[in-house]
Amino acid sequence: MPEPHADPNTGALARDPDALAARLREVHPEAATNPGDVRVVFAPGRVNLIGEHTDYNEGFVLPVAIERGIGIALVPTDDGVARLTLAETGETREFTAAAPGARQNAWVDYVAGMGWALAEAGLPVRGFRGVLASDLPQGAGLSSSAALEVVSAWALSGGDRPGIDPMGLVHLVKRSENGYIGLNNGIMDQFASIFGEPGRALLLDCRSLDHRPIRLVGQDLALVACHSGSPRRLETSAYNERRAQCDAAVAAISALEPGVTALRDVTPAMLDAVRDRLEPVAVRRAQHVVDEDQRVLDAVEAFEAGDLATVGRLFYTSHASLRDLYDVSSPELDALVDIAQATPGVIGARLTGAGFGGCTINLVHRDAVPMLRENVLRDYPARTGLTPRVFEVEASAGARRLA
Ligand code: GLA
Repeated sequence: MPEPHADPNTGALARDPDALAARLREVHPEAATNPGDVRVVFAPGRVNLIGEHTDYNEGFVLPVAIERGIGIALVPTDDGVARLTLAETGETREFTAAAPGARQNAWVDYVAGMGWALAEAGLPVRGFRGVLASDLPQGAGLSSSAALEVVSAWALSGGDRPGIDPMGLVHLVKRSENGYIGLNNGIMDQFASIFGEPGRALLLDCRSLDHRPIRLVGQDLALVACHSGSPRRLETSAYNERRAQCDAAVAAISALEPGVTALRDVTPAMLDAVRDRLEPVAVRRAQHVVDEDQRVLDAVEAFEAGDLATVGRLFYTSHASLRDLYDVSSPELDALVDIAQATPGVIGARLTGAGFGGCTINLVHRDAVPMLRENVLRDYPARTGLTPRVFEVEASAGARRLA
């Protein structure tokens, strides 16, 4: 799916309300005649520290909203038309805000899908003239889709917080993605984009929806994303296939263990008792999810106890499980994890997000960041023929109005 994007090393227009408002006056001068009418809204991307492919299995996740994201400067209109221009390319798309009709197979679908979902929920939807900038690198698996949907929900609500409670908005974004875009994903990405807190990761129980911020360890630690530069192959179809395999595992396990309605309910002992009677692929998918849920809880405990050695071990085990049991890694992501693991001062590394390409997330002692960057920039191209990108990310606030 095409996404608006920017290089991670270019300036942060997405987060500069004055510059973004100035672009709006350039591209939609007729709408932006009164500077007081311009609003600027922003929604961040995320990295997930641990808990991958657990959200749609009603399990646990530990994402972090990051400082990078998508900003829209807009003027609300009363004509019911949403017209939005990409700051980077000047491409403009439009749709009827409350009744967008068929997808255009373009980035604007994520905006239009929110109009569709807000209208379906009976919420007010306003037209606007807007300009959009992103500083989330393309295809990085840092949730540019969720950031775009969340910031669009604000833009379509006149530049204000949508008139629904934040967890309700999380579910509306999922409705848009499942019903309009056609990806059967869970709630982690938009939850992080909406609930993000500076300096905190967010532990979410995707069944009860209970959540709490987890303080990230002190100043001397850094979160580093390494972008593999490899396209996320077959992402939508492979992602939906993984979901279907989990549902099949649940159906088979529940025939033997009544009361199981999601992989969240399966204990390691239960899985051992039924494994001989399941398809091998169902066992592998279920094993990953059952273990990964436990890893999230263990990681939270270890973070809170300052036990970084355990956090690191859990990161590497999670990556191995995603590679060997869930089959969502790639040779490129494995190479990035190998290089990180061989770098002194790296505490842990794993793929983050859906997989199939995109980024790894690395927990690193701050003074080891230059060495990690150097090792990745030197060894990764030699191993893969691809150019990586290495950048620090910072736990940041969720969606908000900037001006
Ligand atoms: C994507 C989806 C999320 C989640 C992750 C994997 O980011 O959007 O809902 O399933 O993959 O953990």
